[in-house]
Amino acid sequence: MDSTTRIFQIEGGNFDEIISEAARIIKQGGTVAFPTETVYGLGADALNSEAVRKIFQAKGRPQDNPLIVHITDTEQLDMLARDVSDSAHKLMDAFWPGPLTLIFRRRDIVPDVTTCGLDTVAVRMPDDPVAMALIEQAGTPIAAPSANISGRPSPTTAEHVRADLSGRIDAVIDGGPVRVGVESTVLDMTPDIPVLLRPGEVSVEQIRECVGEVRIGYTEHRAGAGEIVRSPGLKYTHYSPQTRLVLVKGNSQAVVDRIDELAREYRAKNFRVGLLVTDETAEHVSADEVFLLGSRYNASAIASNLFAGLRYLDQKDLDIIIADGWIEQDGVGVAVKNRLNKAAGESVETGKTG
Ligand code: TXA
Ligand code: MG
Repeated sequence: MDSTTRIFQIEGGNFDEIISEAARIIKQGGTVAFPTETVYGLGADALNSEAVRKIFQAKGRPQDNPLIVHITDTEQLDMLARDVSDSAHKLMDAFWPGPLTLIFRRRDIVPDVTTCGLDTVAVRMPDDPVAMALIEQAGTPIAAPSANISGRPSPTTAEHVRADLSGRIDAVIDGGPVRVGVESTVLDMTPDIPVLLRPGEVSVEQIRECVGEVRIGYTEHRAGAGEIVRSPGLKYTHYSPQTRLVLVKGNSQAVVDRIDELAREYRAKNFRVGLLVTDETAEHVSADEVFLLGSRYNASAIASNLFAGLRYLDQKDLDIIIADGWIEQDGVGVAVKNRLNKAAGESVETGKTG
């Protein structure tokens, strides 16, 4: 916990060397943060209880929040999971490697600390060359939550990992910024009808097209409705900056107008105001700091900027951050809105929809 964290920068043909050194750390029961296509993960040998405990310690993660186990081939799945259905096989064929986590009944080889004592295990096959090579070389499934301090925005660069976990983990592999930017879709395959527990880049429509009926099992814990109301509901806040964050919801010009109004009101009170807004909204508003998310019609771009934006504004010594909720919902847009809802301590509604 108090040792130096080694930084492995992938550059100029040192890939194999870095992977074998990082894999050695994993095999010896250490912790290594590494890129996946979604966010950076904090990895340890999923079958080694002592190693997995280090993940919980480093992140300050609650002991009742189970980890995702990362694999590179389906033989590893047979080792971890039981009762893998035909539907699950269809999903794996369609989306693995990729940002879809599937939950199965577990086998005894999976330690209690990895699953927090549940009789199920979450598994995914990441679509990233570094992640894949690391798992292969380590020769063991790797348990990996997002590599952030618990409750904070997930890391999308190695710099984000360093900012949160430097000195608390053995190493970070810097493979550059990730592709997707929000965490994987989580789907529970243990009931007869699969249940979506977390939206991600693989959408519910894609899953339904592949296996038919799917139930929605997550909520959008809307922190507050109507005006700026409650004190931050910490219990329901995730992915959060330390700065107060207000989300303006809706999908019309009213969102832009409300952000403009709020920014003016707060600045009149001498608040330092930051804005997390789409490019289109930014043309009509101003504040002390403005972070551009990308076009409101390009959810993928917004997904890859969202957590970096939260972290950026959080360092700017602001009194309040106002976030733009007018983002089109196609594709990964559902996941983006989910993360914004969870990050916001407060929200303001501007209309019926969105
Ligand atoms: O994209 C991702 O999934 C990233 C990268 C690193 O792979 N990982 C990630 O892990 O987001 P984490 O720990 O931050 O989120 C895992 C989610 C949590 O919401 C956890 O509660 C849920 O998956 N989960 C894990 N095992 C579960 C289980 N057996 N049953 C229900 N939910 C589970
Ligand atoms: Mg996480």
